Amino acid sequence: MRVFVTGASGWIGSATVDDLLGAGHDVVGLARSEASAAAIAAKGATALPGDLDDLEALRRGAAEAEGVVHLANKHDWANSAETNRAERAAVETIAQTLAGSGRPFVLASGFGGMGPGRPIAESDPSPAVGPDSMRGGSENLALDYVEKDVRAIVARFAPSVHAIGDHGFLSAIVAAARRHGVSAYIGDGSTAWAAVHRSDAARLIRLGLEQAPAGSRLHAVAEDAVAARDIAEAIGRTLDIPVVSVAPEKATEHFGFVARFFGMDMSASSARTRESLAWTPSGPTLIEDIRTGAYA
Ligand SMILES: NC(=O)c1ccc[n+]([C@@H]2O[C@H](COP(=O)([O-])OP(=O)(O)OC[C@H]3O[C@@H](n4cnc5c(N)ncnc54)[C@H](OP(=O)(O)O)[C@@H]3O)[C@@H](O)[C@H]2O)c1
Repeated sequence: MRVFVTGASGWIGSATVDDLLGAGHDVVGLARSEASAAAIAAKGATALPGDLDDLEALRRGAAEAEGVVHLANKHDWANSAETNRAERAAVETIAQTLAGSGRPFVLASGFGGMGPGRPIAESDPSPAVGPDSMRGGSENLALDYVEKDVRAIVARFAPSVHAIGDHGFLSAIVAAARRHGVSAYIGDGSTAWAAVHRSDAARLIRLGLEQAPAGSRLHAVAEDAVAARDIAEAIGRTLDIPVVSVAPEKATEHFGFVARFFGMDMSASSARTRESLAWTPSGPTLIEDIRTGAYA
Protein backbone atom coordinates (compact mmCIF):
# COMPACT_ATOMS: atom_id res chain seq x y z
CA MET A 1 0.00 0.00 0.00
CA ARG A 2 1.20 3.55 -0.68
CA VAL A 3 0.84 5.27 2.69
CA PHE A 4 0.97 9.00 3.39
CA VAL A 5 2.30 9.61 6.91
CA THR A 6 2.22 12.99 8.64
CA GLY A 7 4.63 13.26 11.58
CA ALA A 8 6.83 10.69 9.84
CA SER A 9 9.95 12.27 11.37
CA GLY A 10 8.55 12.24 14.92
CA TRP A 11 8.87 9.85 17.86
CA ILE A 12 6.04 7.48 16.98
CA GLY A 13 6.12 8.36 13.27
CA SER A 14 9.72 7.34 12.64
CA ALA A 15 9.12 3.92 14.22
CA THR A 16 5.88 3.62 12.24
CA VAL A 17 7.70 4.35 8.98
CA ASP A 18 10.23 1.61 9.79
CA ASP A 19 7.43 -0.84 10.53
CA LEU A 20 5.48 0.04 7.36
CA LEU A 21 8.55 -0.22 5.15
CA GLY A 22 9.51 -3.51 6.82
CA ALA A 23 6.09 -4.90 5.93
CA GLY A 24 6.53 -3.95 2.27
CA HIS A 25 4.49 -0.73 2.11
CA ASP A 26 5.62 2.43 0.30
CA VAL A 27 5.71 5.52 2.49
CA VAL A 28 5.43 9.22 1.65
CA GLY A 29 6.13 11.37 4.70
CA LEU A 30 5.15 14.99 5.24
CA ALA A 31 8.31 17.01 5.97
CA ARG A 32 8.28 20.61 7.18
CA SER A 33 12.05 21.09 7.04
CA GLU A 34 15.06 19.86 5.11
CA ALA A 35 16.28 17.98 8.18
CA SER A 36 12.98 16.11 8.47
CA ALA A 37 12.97 15.40 4.72
CA ALA A 38 16.49 13.99 4.98
CA ALA A 39 15.52 11.79 7.95
CA ILE A 40 12.54 10.44 6.03
CA ALA A 41 14.57 9.83 2.87
CA ALA A 42 17.32 8.08 4.85
CA LYS A 43 14.80 5.43 5.86
CA GLY A 44 13.91 4.72 2.24
CA ALA A 45 10.64 6.70 2.22
CA THR A 46 9.75 9.72 0.07
CA ALA A 47 9.43 13.17 1.61
CA LEU A 48 6.55 15.47 0.66
CA PRO A 49 7.43 19.06 1.61
CA GLY A 50 4.78 20.88 3.62
CA ASP A 51 3.57 21.66 7.10
CA LEU A 52 0.29 21.26 8.93
CA ASP A 53 -0.94 24.66 7.79
CA ASP A 54 -0.25 23.77 4.17
CA LEU A 55 -3.62 22.17 3.52
CA GLU A 56 -2.84 21.78 -0.17
CA ALA A 57 0.13 19.53 0.71
CA LEU A 58 -2.13 17.45 2.99
CA ARG A 59 -4.70 17.17 0.19
CA ARG A 60 -2.07 16.08 -2.29
CA GLY A 61 -0.51 13.56 0.07
CA ALA A 62 -3.89 12.01 0.86
CA ALA A 63 -5.18 12.06 -2.73
CA GLU A 64 -2.14 10.19 -4.02
CA ALA A 65 -2.13 7.60 -1.23
CA GLU A 66 -3.97 4.33 -0.65
CA GLY A 67 -4.00 5.02 3.07
CA VAL A 68 -3.14 7.84 5.50
CA VAL A 69 -1.57 7.81 8.97
CA HIS A 70 -1.85 11.22 10.67
CA LEU A 71 0.61 11.67 13.55
CA ALA A 72 1.86 15.27 13.16
CA ASN A 73 0.82 17.68 15.88
CA LYS A 74 2.04 21.15 16.79
CA HIS A 75 2.19 20.27 20.51
CA ASP A 76 2.33 23.95 21.46
CA TRP A 77 1.20 23.53 25.07
CA ALA A 78 1.28 27.30 25.65
CA ASN A 79 -1.18 27.82 22.80
CA SER A 80 -3.46 24.81 22.85
CA ALA A 81 -6.21 26.70 20.99
CA GLU A 82 -3.94 27.03 17.95
CA THR A 83 -2.69 23.45 18.29
CA ASN A 84 -6.27 22.19 18.36
CA ARG A 85 -7.38 24.43 15.49
CA ALA A 86 -4.55 23.14 13.29
CA GLU A 87 -5.27 19.53 14.26
CA ARG A 88 -8.95 19.89 13.41
CA ALA A 89 -8.21 21.58 10.08
CA ALA A 90 -5.69 18.88 9.12
CA VAL A 91 -8.05 16.03 10.02
CA GLU A 92 -10.94 17.63 8.15
CA THR A 93 -8.79 18.21 5.06
CA ILE A 94 -7.52 14.62 4.96
CA ALA A 95 -10.96 13.14 5.64
CA GLN A 96 -12.62 15.27 2.95
CA THR A 97 -9.95 14.21 0.47
CA LEU A 98 -10.53 10.53 1.25
CA ALA A 99 -14.34 10.75 1.23
CA GLY A 100 -15.97 8.21 -1.06
CA SER A 101 -12.78 6.16 -1.47
CA GLY A 102 -13.14 3.57 1.32
CA ARG A 103 -9.44 4.12 2.06
CA PRO A 104 -8.03 3.81 5.58
CA PHE A 105 -7.29 6.90 7.65
CA VAL A 106 -5.54 6.20 10.96
CA LEU A 107 -5.26 9.26 13.19
CA ALA A 108 -3.56 9.83 16.51
CA SER A 109 -5.58 10.52 19.62
CA GLY A 110 -5.11 10.14 23.36
CA PHE A 111 -6.85 9.77 26.69
CA GLY A 112 -6.50 13.29 28.05
CA GLY A 113 -9.69 14.76 29.47
CA MET A 114 -11.69 11.51 29.34
CA GLY A 115 -11.23 10.29 32.93
CA PRO A 116 -14.34 8.15 33.55
CA GLY A 117 -12.92 7.05 36.95
CA ARG A 118 -11.93 3.58 35.67
CA PRO A 119 -9.66 2.38 32.87
CA ILE A 120 -10.93 3.84 29.60
CA ALA A 121 -12.25 1.23 27.16
CA GLU A 122 -12.42 1.31 23.37
CA SER A 123 -16.20 1.57 23.67
CA ASP A 124 -15.87 4.89 25.56
CA PRO A 125 -16.45 7.66 23.04
CA SER A 126 -14.36 10.79 23.16
CA PRO A 127 -16.47 13.45 24.88
CA ALA A 128 -15.00 16.02 22.52
CA VAL A 129 -17.71 17.62 20.47
CA GLY A 130 -16.30 20.80 18.96
CA PRO A 131 -13.34 22.94 17.99
CA ASP A 132 -12.60 23.92 21.61
CA SER A 133 -12.37 20.37 22.92
CA MET A 134 -9.25 18.21 23.40
CA ARG A 135 -7.36 17.80 20.10
CA GLY A 136 -9.96 20.05 18.46
CA GLY A 137 -12.54 17.28 18.64
CA SER A 138 -10.63 15.59 15.81
CA GLU A 139 -11.43 12.04 16.94
CA ASN A 140 -15.19 12.42 16.56
CA LEU A 141 -14.74 14.56 13.47
CA ALA A 142 -12.82 11.77 11.73
CA LEU A 143 -15.31 9.10 12.82
CA ASP A 144 -18.11 11.17 11.27
CA TYR A 145 -16.50 10.41 7.91
CA VAL A 146 -17.17 6.68 8.22
CA GLU A 147 -20.60 7.33 6.73
CA LYS A 148 -18.87 9.17 3.88
CA ASP A 149 -16.98 5.98 3.05
CA VAL A 150 -13.69 6.72 4.78
CA ARG A 151 -12.23 3.80 6.78
CA ALA A 152 -11.48 6.11 9.71
CA ILE A 153 -9.58 4.47 12.58
CA VAL A 154 -8.63 6.22 15.81
CA ALA A 155 -5.33 5.22 17.46
CA ARG A 156 -5.45 6.37 21.07
CA PHE A 157 -1.91 6.34 22.43
CA ALA A 158 -1.07 5.78 26.07
CA PRO A 159 0.32 8.99 27.62
CA SER A 160 3.68 7.26 27.80
CA VAL A 161 4.90 5.81 24.49
CA HIS A 162 8.31 4.89 25.86
CA ALA A 163 11.68 3.68 24.64
CA ILE A 164 15.26 4.91 24.66
CA GLY A 165 15.29 8.48 23.33
CA ASP A 166 11.71 9.41 24.36
CA HIS A 167 11.27 13.19 24.54
CA GLY A 168 7.57 13.12 25.54
CA PHE A 169 5.75 13.67 28.83
CA LEU A 170 7.94 11.28 30.82
CA SER A 171 11.15 12.98 29.79
CA ALA A 172 9.66 16.27 31.08
CA ILE A 173 8.93 14.55 34.41
CA VAL A 174 12.50 13.22 34.56
CA ALA A 175 13.84 16.69 33.67
CA ALA A 176 11.86 18.20 36.57
CA ALA A 177 13.37 15.58 38.91
CA ARG A 178 16.87 16.54 37.77
CA ARG A 179 16.13 20.28 38.12
CA HIS A 180 14.85 19.95 41.67
CA GLY A 181 17.02 17.06 42.91
CA VAL A 182 13.90 15.16 43.99
CA SER A 183 11.58 12.85 42.11
CA ALA A 184 8.00 13.92 42.76
CA TYR A 185 4.47 12.62 42.42
CA ILE A 186 1.34 14.71 42.94
CA GLY A 187 -0.73 14.28 46.10
CA ASP A 188 -0.87 10.61 47.08
CA GLY A 189 0.40 9.53 43.65
CA SER A 190 -2.53 7.21 43.07
CA THR A 191 -3.47 8.51 39.62
CA ALA A 192 -2.21 6.17 36.91
CA TRP A 193 -1.11 6.19 33.31
CA ALA A 194 -1.42 3.57 30.64
CA ALA A 195 1.88 2.86 28.86
CA VAL A 196 3.14 1.22 25.69
CA HIS A 197 6.54 0.61 24.15
CA ARG A 198 7.11 2.59 20.95
CA SER A 199 7.76 -0.53 18.85
CA ASP A 200 4.40 -2.03 19.92
CA ALA A 201 2.60 1.24 19.14
CA ALA A 202 4.14 1.37 15.67
CA ARG A 203 3.11 -2.22 14.93
CA LEU A 204 -0.43 -1.49 16.06
CA ILE A 205 -0.70 1.48 13.69
CA ARG A 206 0.29 -0.77 10.79
CA LEU A 207 -2.14 -3.50 11.80
CA GLY A 208 -4.91 -0.91 12.14
CA LEU A 209 -4.15 0.50 8.72
CA GLU A 210 -4.14 -2.95 7.14
CA GLN A 211 -7.05 -4.59 8.93
CA ALA A 212 -9.14 -2.52 11.35
CA PRO A 213 -12.78 -1.98 10.43
CA ALA A 214 -14.09 1.52 9.79
CA GLY A 215 -14.93 3.35 13.00
CA SER A 216 -12.50 1.37 15.20
CA ARG A 217 -11.00 2.97 18.26
CA LEU A 218 -7.68 1.23 18.90
CA HIS A 219 -5.90 1.49 22.24
CA ALA A 220 -2.12 1.51 21.99
CA VAL A 221 -1.85 0.29 25.56
CA ALA A 222 0.41 -2.49 26.84
CA GLU A 223 0.02 -1.71 30.56
CA ASP A 224 -3.37 -0.48 31.75
CA ALA A 225 -2.30 1.51 34.80
CA VAL A 226 1.13 2.45 36.10
CA ALA A 227 0.67 4.53 39.27
CA ALA A 228 2.28 7.98 39.34
CA ARG A 229 3.94 7.06 42.62
CA ASP A 230 5.56 3.97 41.06
CA ILE A 231 6.82 6.10 38.15
CA ALA A 232 8.31 8.66 40.58
CA GLU A 233 9.92 5.90 42.65
CA ALA A 234 11.53 4.31 39.58
CA ILE A 235 12.89 7.71 38.52
CA GLY A 236 14.14 8.37 42.07
CA ARG A 237 15.94 5.02 42.25
CA THR A 238 17.46 5.47 38.79
CA LEU A 239 18.72 9.00 39.49
CA ASP A 240 19.53 8.12 43.12
CA ILE A 241 17.51 11.06 44.50
CA PRO A 242 14.74 11.23 47.14
CA VAL A 243 11.10 10.63 46.20
CA VAL A 244 8.59 13.17 47.52
CA SER A 245 4.95 14.18 47.19
CA VAL A 246 4.10 17.68 45.93
CA ALA A 247 0.76 19.27 46.72
CA PRO A 248 -1.54 19.69 43.70
CA GLU A 249 -1.33 23.51 44.00
CA LYS A 250 2.50 23.31 43.77
CA ALA A 251 2.56 20.82 40.90
CA THR A 252 3.00 23.34 38.06
CA GLU A 253 5.85 25.03 39.93
CA HIS A 254 7.64 21.67 40.15
CA PHE A 255 6.78 20.02 36.83
CA GLY A 256 5.94 22.90 34.45
CA PHE A 257 3.44 22.18 31.65
CA VAL A 258 3.47 18.42 32.25
CA ALA A 259 1.87 18.82 35.71
CA ARG A 260 -1.53 19.01 34.01
CA PHE A 261 -1.00 15.58 32.44
CA PHE A 262 0.87 13.86 35.30
CA GLY A 263 -2.03 14.75 37.59
CA MET A 264 -4.60 13.21 35.23
CA ASP A 265 -5.77 9.65 35.55
CA MET A 266 -5.20 8.17 32.09
CA SER A 267 -5.49 4.46 32.70
CA ALA A 268 -6.95 2.46 29.84
CA SER A 269 -7.49 -1.10 28.69
CA SER A 270 -6.78 -2.62 25.30
CA ALA A 271 -8.64 -5.94 25.51
CA ARG A 272 -10.76 -5.27 22.43
CA THR A 273 -7.79 -3.97 20.40
CA ARG A 274 -5.68 -7.04 21.23
CA GLU A 275 -8.45 -9.41 20.32
CA SER A 276 -9.57 -7.71 17.10
CA LEU A 277 -6.08 -7.38 15.60
CA ALA A 278 -4.23 -10.25 17.34
CA TRP A 279 -1.90 -7.57 18.69
CA THR A 280 0.31 -8.74 21.54
CA PRO A 281 2.62 -6.09 22.97
CA SER A 282 6.07 -7.51 23.64
CA GLY A 283 8.33 -4.54 24.42
CA PRO A 284 9.77 -3.69 27.86
CA THR A 285 7.48 -2.17 30.49
CA LEU A 286 7.61 1.52 31.40
CA ILE A 287 9.31 0.83 34.73
CA GLU A 288 11.84 -1.47 33.02
CA ASP A 289 12.67 1.29 30.53
CA ILE A 290 13.11 3.85 33.32
CA ARG A 291 15.23 1.47 35.37
CA THR A 292 17.49 0.51 32.45
CA GLY A 293 18.24 4.15 31.69
CA ALA A 294 15.95 4.97 28.75
CA TYR A 295 15.62 8.47 30.25
CA ALA A 296 19.25 8.87 31.22
N1 LIG B 1 4.36 10.17 22.43
C1 LIG B 1 3.33 9.98 23.22
O1 LIG B 1 3.54 9.50 24.35
C2 LIG B 1 1.92 10.31 22.78
C3 LIG B 1 0.86 10.06 23.67
C4 LIG B 1 -0.45 10.36 23.28
C5 LIG B 1 -0.69 10.88 22.02
N2 LIG B 1 0.37 11.12 21.19
C6 LIG B 1 0.07 11.69 19.85
O2 LIG B 1 0.68 10.89 18.85
C7 LIG B 1 1.09 11.71 17.76
C8 LIG B 1 2.57 11.50 17.51
O3 LIG B 1 3.27 11.88 18.70
P1 LIG B 1 4.86 11.89 18.79
O4 LIG B 1 5.21 11.60 20.20
O5 LIG B 1 5.46 11.06 17.72
O6 LIG B 1 5.17 13.44 18.50
P2 LIG B 1 6.55 14.14 18.14
O7 LIG B 1 7.72 13.25 18.39
O8 LIG B 1 6.52 15.48 18.79
O9 LIG B 1 6.47 14.33 16.57
C9 LIG B 1 5.62 15.26 16.01
C10 LIG B 1 5.71 15.15 14.51
O10 LIG B 1 4.87 16.17 13.97
C11 LIG B 1 5.64 16.98 13.11
N3 LIG B 1 5.14 18.33 13.20
C12 LIG B 1 5.06 19.12 14.28
N4 LIG B 1 4.56 20.32 13.96
C13 LIG B 1 4.34 20.28 12.62
C14 LIG B 1 3.86 21.21 11.68
N5 LIG B 1 3.49 22.45 12.04
N6 LIG B 1 3.76 20.82 10.39
C15 LIG B 1 4.14 19.56 10.02
N7 LIG B 1 4.62 18.64 10.84
C16 LIG B 1 4.72 19.01 12.13
C17 LIG B 1 7.07 16.86 13.60
O11 LIG B 1 7.94 17.24 12.56
P3 LIG B 1 9.51 17.59 12.84
O12 LIG B 1 10.21 16.26 12.97
O13 LIG B 1 9.90 18.35 11.64
O14 LIG B 1 9.56 18.37 14.12
C18 LIG B 1 7.12 15.40 13.94
O15 LIG B 1 7.28 14.64 12.78
C19 LIG B 1 0.72 13.14 18.16
O16 LIG B 1 -0.55 13.45 17.65
C20 LIG B 1 0.66 13.05 19.66
O17 LIG B 1 -0.14 14.07 20.25
C21 LIG B 1 1.65 10.85 21.53
